Amino acid sequence: MMRCVAVLLLAACVSVQADTYMHNPRGSNNRLNERSANRNNGNRMFDSQNNNRGGYNVGDSTDQASGNEAQQYRMKYFESGPYKTMVADGQLTGQGQSLMTIEWTNQHGCGGDEDTDPHKLNCNIVLQYMCQEDSVTGDDAIRNGRTTQTQNHNRINNLNENQNTANNRKNNAVRDDRGLHEMWDWYDKCYNRERNMGLFTADQKLKTNNGNGYSSAIYTRQNPNGNRRGYECPEERDYYPYWHPSPWKDMAILVSNQSLCEFYQSESFNVKQKYECVETYGAGNTGTAKHWSRWNNEAECTENGGQWLAFTNYLEKAPQLTTQAACEANSGTNGMRYVWGRPEGETAEQCLVALDPPDCQPAPWTRVNHLGNTRGGQASRYEWTMPYFPSDNTQRCVMRLRYNITTDDYDPINTDASQNQNINAGVLSPIEQNPYVDIGADRLALRLAINTAQYGRTFQDRSHAFLIMPRPAGADMAAAKIFNLNVRGKRGNIVQVYPAVEYDFIPNDLEINQGDLVHIQWTGSNTHNNNAPGGDGQTGDAGEGRGGTDRSNIVQMLDRLENFPMPFEQTTMWTEAQVKWIYTGTTNMEPMDLAVNIASSGYYECMKAATCQGDSVQNKNKMNNLLNNAPASYGGALIEFAQGEYFYMGSRNNNFSNRSQKGRLMIK
Ligand SMILES: *[C@@H]1O[C@H](CO)[C@@H](O)[C@H](O)[C@H]1NC(C)=O
Ligand SMILES: *[C@@H]1O[C@H](CO)[C@@H](O)[C@H](O)[C@H]1NC(C)=O
Ligand SMILES: *[C@@H]1O[C@H](CO)[C@@H](O)[C@H](O)[C@H]1NC(C)=O
Ligand SMILES: *[C@@H]1O[C@H](CO)[C@@H](O)[C@H](O)[C@H]1NC(C)=O
Repeated sequence: MMRCVAVLLLAACVSVQADTYMHNPRGSNNRLNERSANRNNGNRMFDSQNNNRGGYNVGDSTDQASGNEAQQYRMKYFESGPYKTMVADGQLTGQGQSLMTIEWTNQHGCGGDEDTDPHKLNCNIVLQYMCQEDSVTGDDAIRNGRTTQTQNHNRINNLNENQNTANNRKNNAVRDDRGLHEMWDWYDKCYNRERNMGLFTADQKLKTNNGNGYSSAIYTRQNPNGNRRGYECPEERDYYPYWHPSPWKDMAILVSNQSLCEFYQSESFNVKQKYECVETYGAGNTGTAKHWSRWNNEAECTENGGQWLAFTNYLEKAPQLTTQAACEANSGTNGMRYVWGRPEGETAEQCLVALDPPDCQPAPWTRVNHLGNTRGGQASRYEWTMPYFPSDNTQRCVMRLRYNITTDDYDPINTDASQNQNINAGVLSPIEQNPYVDIGADRLALRLAINTAQYGRTFQDRSHAFLIMPRPAGADMAAAKIFNLNVRGKRGNIVQVYPAVEYDFIPNDLEINQGDLVHIQWTGSNTHNNNAPGGDGQTGDAGEGRGGTDRSNIVQMLDRLENFPMPFEQTTMWTEAQVKWIYTGTTNMEPMDLAVNIASSGYYECMKAATCQGDSVQNKNKMNNLLNNAPASYGGALIEFAQGEYFYMGSRNNNFSNRSQKGRLMIK
């Protein structure tokens, strides 16, 4: 075995430290609001396997650090229009999309077709999201929290615990001041379900006892000791497509081998039912269903009195269609697809809004050991066509990006538990921890850097909570194409922010057609001080204005080679712009009002007291010229611009030659 690894690995094994960071929407990397360059708690919500320095704080609504969740700013995106899903001859009509530019960096390289453009590793990027109605409160509500502590979990003391005991365990564990994505029930289910014993674990020694006498899905090759991060399930985290139901909806999978697309798209839980064992409290299958079962396969499930049930993934529920017949009869009308099925975590079948298979595309090509741009000079991007929720109820969501890298040192797809190290049975794992290789010269051994827990490895980043809201009313609204224009980056110079990035608009070069709408919005924090501890890098927050604060605005300039805004009288960007919606609700805005609102990041709502009274330039106290007293986040305006080419900048952050925050908007 060692002979053959020698040649391969010296070439392919570069560094096991790799990372992925989302820049738009801002990836938390498990940060919340800490003023330090390092995150406080890498186990807060999910297992990133990233460096402690990465990530962006949650946005603040005002010029002050938020003390509670209500003061945090949640990005608000408009959903796609209903036509997005209207299928004509198998094609989307192409109308009414809401497009979000997702941008990230990944360190170890990605992309490249294995046959025509081979890379040094195999890589997949899995993009997913999870939503619930924004009205949900209580233990199961998706939230950012206001402290950086991890939610608690205590294991079952007695496998025959009754429902009250289970409820108490949950109520005693879940805290409303801590962040939550997956629910407590999901993690508890994972903790109690036997792990998939067919998985390849190399020579890692996974714990064999979860405290109740067996090994469970919290132990994996990458997480052999069963460490917990938030309520994420380690087995589900490490493997995609997962074989049991999960709360995540697949957005896209970006691959290096495109012939795998068919597999991913047909195996996605979006379109394929997944099974799970359901047991009940009390005898037979009569009592209330438990949220967990030890059994992970049909045979053991039914032998032990459980029911092996199919679950269906869905966008949202359609409770207005109360029967299977009504559900199925309405599917296909008005472009909506419904499916009768059982949602994850529940037992009753009901009418659900069906999901499309995930998009599958080649992963953007990036260089190994380079946390930077792809070919073409932009960081890796994916343009997400956001979903349409027929209920038109505002959704609270979070998105997740997993960056999964493997090499050919073992066949990543066909290597299973039969090749796990078992010295007694004479089985050697195809990869071993830090092996010594003989390169020919007698007794000259070289040690290779192989950590089998990281050989085949998954990194992750997630957004903070955001909202997807219904489109504004209006005859032309449903079919309009909406482009989101946001700001990325955080305060500090290139070294202080790394591996996050400095400020820029995203997308900073947007070419759209007349009639398309631009949704301008940004979020920033008041706590990006990047203080000590700084871990692997320099601390500090070089920049304009009050320390620790992110601020942005938009002022027009003549040309992108310049660094001076134009006087308002000469600007063209706002003069014929039509405001379709604005966060203030103001309906009678003049171009000048819009200009001042966006230039002041929402500090002023308008020019004259007659239009917006106390928040007008006429009446309100003067704004600080570096936006110190302006809100860190701009609540958003949906605008139809007139034909033309516009250049703009952020007046506070643009600082030639240190920093450029400039953009171009072209309306064709
Ligand atoms: C791509 O995947 C297909 C399907 O699994 C496989 O047959 C093929 O060998 C893969 N290509 C390469 C270059 O690995
Ligand atoms: C990562 O890749 C390995 C090998 O192909 C696969 O078994 C695993 O399911 C993948 N995990 C994710 C999260 O994509
Ligand atoms: C511009 O950027 C540099 C480097 O971050 C900083 O030192 C300086 O204070 C900034 N502002 C001005 C007005 O130069
Ligand atoms: C840019 O930053 C350097 C230090 O990083 C500073 O010396 C220089 O003055 C800055 N330029 C401006 C215009 O502030």
